[in-house]
Amino acid sequence: MKLAQRMLRVKGSEIRSVGKKIASRSNPDLIKFSAGMPDAALFPAKALLEATVPLFSDPERASLQYGLTKGDTDLIGLIAGRMKAVEHMDIDPGNILITTGCQQGISLSAVALLDKGDAVLVESPSYMDGLNACIPYECDFVGIETDDDGMVAEALDRELDANPRAKLIYVIPNFQNPTGKAWPFKRRQDFMAVVKKHPDIMVVEDNPYGELRFRGKFVPSLKSMDTNGQVIYLGSFSKVLSPGLRVAWVIANDELVEKLEILKEGFDLQSNQFAQVQVVNYLRNNDLTAHVELLRAIYKRKCDLMLGAIKEQFPEQAKVIEPDGGMFIWVSLPERINTSEMLDDALEAGVSYIPGVSFYADGKGTDGMRLNFTSTPDERILVGVRRLADVIRTRLH
Ligand SMILES: Cc1ncc(COP(=O)(O)O)c(C=O)c1O
Repeated sequence: MKLAQRMLRVKGSEIRSVGKKIASRSNPDLIKFSAGMPDAALFPAKALLEATVPLFSDPERASLQYGLTKGDTDLIGLIAGRMKAVEHMDIDPGNILITTGCQQGISLSAVALLDKGDAVLVESPSYMDGLNACIPYECDFVGIETDDDGMVAEALDRELDANPRAKLIYVIPNFQNPTGKAWPFKRRQDFMAVVKKHPDIMVVEDNPYGELRFRGKFVPSLKSMDTNGQVIYLGSFSKVLSPGLRVAWVIANDELVEKLEILKEGFDLQSNQFAQVQVVNYLRNNDLTAHVELLRAIYKRKCDLMLGAIKEQFPEQAKVIEPDGGMFIWVSLPERINTSEMLDDALEAGVSYIPGVSFYADGKGTDGMRLNFTSTPDERILVGVRRLADVIRTRLH
C-alpha cells in the first residue's frame, strides 16, 4: 500500500499514546486526572430520555430520516437564540452550520483554507487534536508567544508582518485546553486590532468551554469584535450537555459557510439527525442555562478543592495556573523534573495526568502537566493530589 504523500506526517498524538499507556494499566484504583471529560454524573440523563421518547412516536419519524447537510433548521434557530443570550451576538441563522463536534469545525476550516506550506499560528501550548486536524493539509505550525493573558498581540503582529505563508490562527480564548487560561477583554481587543490589519488572515476561535465560567465576569468573544468576517467561531454542546451526542456548530462568513457546507456534504452528508432532534427537544423542554449554572457550581467546588490540595501538598516551587472556568489546571514543576518520565511512577502510585510535552508542537513543556478536575469525585481528588505530591517529592530528593 502506498499512502498519499500528505499522510506521511499524520501520526497519533502524544495524548493518544499516553491514553493507551494509562488504559493498559488494569488498576481499578487509578485516579485519572489525565481525563478530558465532563462529570458523567451531571449529564441530564432523565431529561434527555424524556426528550428522546417522543421521537419514536412522531408519525413522520423525522429524527430517523436523512436531514439537511446544514443541520436541523429548528436547532440552528435555537443556537442563534443561545448565541444572543449567552454571547450577546446577533447571528444570522444562515451563517450557522451544524457539525459533528466542534472538532469537525476545525477540520472543515482546515480543508477549506489551508494549502500546502501555509503556516497555522497557534498558542503554545495548544490543543493537539486541533493541530492534528490541520496536519493532513501539509501546513506548518508556528507557536506564538503567550503570557498569562493569552496570545501576545505584538508577537502575533510581528509574525504576520514577517511570514507571508501565515494563513490561519487557531486559538482557544476561554479556559484553554490545556492551560485553563482565559484572555481578558483588553487582550482580545488588541488581538482583533492586529487581525484587522491583516485582512487575508482567518482566525478559528474554538470555544467549547466558554460557558463553564465559574469565576469573574463574562468576556465578549473574538467573533463579537469581528467586523470583516475573519473569525470562524466554534461552539459545542459537548461540555454543557453531553459529548456523546456530537452536536456542535460553526459560525462563519457567507462565502465560507457555504463552502464548509459543501465540504461537509462530502465528508458525512450531515451530522447525526437523531442527536440533533434530541437536542432540539431537550432545549425546548428544559432550561439549559440552569443546567449550566449547576455545572459551574460543581466544577468550581472541584477546582477549588484540587487547587487547595495542590497548594498544601505540592512543593513550593510548583507553579499553578488557577483557572476561572473550564476543566483543567496546569502545573509547572521545577525544570529538572521531566513529567513524561515521571508518569510511570505516578501510574505505579495510582494517579495519572497528561505530561506537558503532549501539548507542544516543538518538544517544550517537559516540566508541565495537565490535571482534569471535573471527572473525579471530590474525595478521590484529595487522594489523587496526595499520591501525585508524594511522587513529585520523591523525584525532587
Ligand atoms: C479545545 C478543544 N476543542 C475541541 C474539542 C472537541 O470538542 P467536541 O466534542 O465539540 O468535538 C475539545 C475537546 O476536548 C477541546 O478541548
